[in-house]
Amino acid sequence: MRMATSATKEDGALRRAIEALGPWFQNLRIGGIETAPDHFLGDYPAFKFARFEPALPQDLTGKTVLDIGCNAGFYSLEMKRRGAAEVLGIDTDDRYLAQARFAADALGFSDMRFEKLSVYDVGALGRRFDLVIFMGVLYHLRHPLLALDLIREHVAGDLMLFQTMQRGPADVLQVPEDAPFHVAATDQPPTYFDNPAYPRMHFIERRYAGDWTNWWAPNAACSQAMLRAAGFSIEAQPEEEVYLCRVAPVPYADWMGEPAVYPARGSKP
Ligand SMILES: C[S@@+](CC[C@H](N)C(=O)[O-])C[C@H]1O[C@@H](n2cnc3c(N)ncnc32)[C@H](O)[C@@H]1O
Repeated sequence: MRMATSATKEDGALRRAIEALGPWFQNLRIGGIETAPDHFLGDYPAFKFARFEPALPQDLTGKTVLDIGCNAGFYSLEMKRRGAAEVLGIDTDDRYLAQARFAADALGFSDMRFEKLSVYDVGALGRRFDLVIFMGVLYHLRHPLLALDLIREHVAGDLMLFQTMQRGPADVLQVPEDAPFHVAATDQPPTYFDNPAYPRMHFIERRYAGDWTNWWAPNAACSQAMLRAAGFSIEAQPEEEVYLCRVAPVPYADWMGEPAVYPARGSKP
């Protein structure tokens, strides 16, 4: 009887601590308590993770992981559970970082680190990681391609797990190497830009889904083209909006460093 009472007290204290750190965006399970049981997407992100987790290495023993936009640390924790030697989560929001630190501690992973750092400042880390996680952040950024360029330049060492909200068709147009500036009035579609499967980034000037921090909504062709343009090859697309990428040569690196005399320089490599 006494044990039951003290267990109930502990439960109550844990619940109060979790509530004090709320509201939570990620639904974690800590000591049998859910942090965001009423999430508008359901059991988020566990239900999403279940769909693509087989695409990730099951054993991360000895590997280093950087989780950019880590929020309460769901993906960081999952990578730690797979044996990662080092997991660093970064985010710009102190409330989420406090949640992540609390969760890691409560779940017995006190060697995980969570630091306040923007994706735009990843160069300050001064090193690369075997696995970079960049999930659910791109469309919240005002400068998404810059973020991918910086990740590629400074921290991506091998794999990157990437997710973005996508809107528009899932079809992907095989874009030609080049296209004429002038098109005939009779051409259909009038230009290749009018093809719905052309890489397209929808700009969100106001709010989307009640959230003013949504700035962009690429279609699938655009997500894929941006990843390639930043120097990532797409190894797998285990879910519509999720890509497992690998570091690859940056296709236009030389071209970008040269003077912008476009027509005279010939084509991009
Ligand atoms: C939609 S949540 C995604 C959280 C988590 N990665 C996931 O997939 O569940 C976006 C996260 O990105 C963080 N964020 C926004 N801008 C950021 C930036 N410039 N650098 C790093 N994190 C950022 C937010 O604070 C938030 O935790």
